[in-house]
Amino acid sequence: MARRKLIAGNWKMNMTAAAGAKLIQDIRAQFECGCKGCANGPEVLVCPPFTTIAAVIEAAKGCCLNVGAQNIHWAEKGAFTGEISGDMLNELGVSYVIIGHSERRQYFGETDQTVNQRVQAALAHNLKVIICVGESLEQRTAGVTNAIIEGQVSKALEGITAEQMANIVIAYEPIWAIGTGQVATEEQAEDVHKAIRALLKKLYSAAVADATRILYGGSMNEKNAAGLLAQPDIDGGLIGGASLKPEAFATIIKAALKA
Ligand code: 13P
Repeated sequence: MARRKLIAGNWKMNMTAAAGAKLIQDIRAQFECGCKGCANGPEVLVCPPFTTIAAVIEAAKGCCLNVGAQNIHWAEKGAFTGEISGDMLNELGVSYVIIGHSERRQYFGETDQTVNQRVQAALAHNLKVIICVGESLEQRTAGVTNAIIEGQVSKALEGITAEQMANIVIAYEPIWAIGTGQVATEEQAEDVHKAIRALLKKLYSAAVADATRILYGGSMNEKNAAGLLAQPDIDGGLIGGASLKPEAFATIIKAALKA
């Protein structure tokens, strides 16, 4: 089964509303079609900070760009200072949410358990989810990469049904490759993607494993994207720095078109 590629930009804590709207215009200008619904190309997604989302949705009108958020809390509402609820994201009109990014795990106390709670909440609010997993350099050096990744994936998916897997995307983002310019080799990335797909087969079925998209993230850019996207188990990218540059992001989208 052919999986439609997904090219997703994680803007992290970058871009005010005005700057984000301008970035969308600049990305759209990179496409001859004016980006008016390229149904045959990869699915394209941008995930701006919460306060930039409304302006980006407005700027993306009439265009095939999807807009997502970078986090969601599991509670419906309440005393959770600094968090955001599913209803709030539904009201904004986002279609995706990124959960469990290593920066949240590293700096903000995110655990496998809270990742799972957030995944459940996102699905309950009809949002598609990008679950991020990744090993540290120490873990890679110690030869425990696959064990770490398999642990993160299975804990994030606890209680998630085969039907719900249609709304789940996994992003493999080695921590040592994020923002460092040190991209994983095509072989290193493909090896882990293959292991994740084998795990999905074990946890669910061959059909679920075959249908689930697994993205690579970590210093993906306009130069290395084509090689990574050509790997059989790499179904797209979760891109930080390069997604803030219209030409670079457009080049990655075009590379996915050919892959
Ligand atoms: P960079 O592309 O800047 O390395 O970031 C990757 C990332 O963390 C995407 O979520």
